[in-house]
Amino acid sequence: MTHEPATPRRFSASTPLEGKIAIPGDKSISHRALMLSALAVGESRVTGLLEGHDVLATAAAMRAMGATIERRDDGEWRIHGVGVGGLLQPREALDMGNSGTSTRLLMGLVATHPITTTFTGDASLSGRPMGRVIDPLSQMGADISASPGANGTKTLPLMVRGLAPATPLTYRLPVASAQVKSAILLAGLNTPGITEVIEPVPTRDHSERMLRGFGADLTVEVDTDGTRHIRIVGEAELKPQTITVPGDPSSAAFFIVAALLVPGSDITIANVGLNPTRAGLIDVLRQMGGNIELIDPREVGGEPVADLRVRHSALKGIAVDPAVAPSMIDEFPILFVAAALAEGRTVTTGLDELRVKESDRIAVMATGLTAIGVRVEESEDGLVIHGSGGDPLAGDATIKGHLDHRICMSFAIAGLVSKAPVTIDDIAPVATSFPNFEALLTELAQ
Ligand code: S3P
Repeated sequence: MTHEPATPRRFSASTPLEGKIAIPGDKSISHRALMLSALAVGESRVTGLLEGHDVLATAAAMRAMGATIERRDDGEWRIHGVGVGGLLQPREALDMGNSGTSTRLLMGLVATHPITTTFTGDASLSGRPMGRVIDPLSQMGADISASPGANGTKTLPLMVRGLAPATPLTYRLPVASAQVKSAILLAGLNTPGITEVIEPVPTRDHSERMLRGFGADLTVEVDTDGTRHIRIVGEAELKPQTITVPGDPSSAAFFIVAALLVPGSDITIANVGLNPTRAGLIDVLRQMGGNIELIDPREVGGEPVADLRVRHSALKGIAVDPAVAPSMIDEFPILFVAAALAEGRTVTTGLDELRVKESDRIAVMATGLTAIGVRVEESEDGLVIHGSGGDPLAGDATIKGHLDHRICMSFAIAGLVSKAPVTIDDIAPVATSFPNFEALLTELAQ
């Protein structure tokens, strides 16, 4: 693994943010578009694909397993798939970089192909728990050897010896995780019979929508208590598609909060995905008093989208309902920054999963916010944040990003509303999900 020198970056008090921007494509949808196109028979076309490092890691992996993937000069991606069951054994280990989604979903795919695949990643990814996918995929017949991690976890590097035909599985998710759900559904694609995932708490449903869009026989039955039974019939044949990827609500989140916090701001963010399994942050910010207007709601690529107009607002602290957590699981770092400027206390609970993201986002946010002058109490599963009531934060600190793009971007936004600058020790991780983050910020602040 090569280590680039760190690139520190300073963020200071901002002039009002004004203007209209478009944000890059949705990361979750981009991964899935590449994977399913690479498994279809024939040529798929994808526009609006996120060209961040995480998604490019998925593209490289699918190429290494036989798909032809090309980017045209006009930005459209063309993918020739190998057909379900047709993945080839990669010649080298698949380097997943920082991307948990690439790793867990691809482990599902290769688990039911008769190939052996090794997965490696960066220091952040190599510390993340993989047992959550190893357990169900092993039950389907894959033979997986992982490295021992902290506290008995199983981690990268790991090797998957796939089995075909595998045994179909009915699996109740022990954690609310779209990655685990998707890994099992993707494993089910090449497994004869019905593979079923039982999901007590709904998580993002992009895999279900897109698998259906590619012609897979996938049904969803919802019990009276909201439990979802997602069933996929294998062995599936996928038909090539033309896909337009909507803008990523998790990337929009940084600019939504920036506009709410920086006095005088009034911005419009075009083409933001608003799938209900992703849109929790908008509801929570509105409850806090955020002025967020949805303009021209419409559908793009089978997903609801709208333009968002966001204006500076005085926010009030609230107790965030833990039930919304899965629909904004990646947005808590930036919500914590919004809470730091609100009036009164914001209380969050039920966020255990944040501890196993690209970094331990509860601990890292608590440390960073404290360093820039925010009063924070950390609990096992959340933070209590005492807001400034709109007064600028002290700032004047260097924040460790811990190879976590969302930590880096959250503290960049905090810098815009701080008296003294906030320095991020290394800005490079931002390119995993949002390569033009700084360029858009500069554009809005002019
Ligand atoms: C993702 C699911 C979520 C999310 C991640 C992307 C996906 O992870 O945090 O950024 O694309 O399925 P979990 O499934 O671990 O909650």
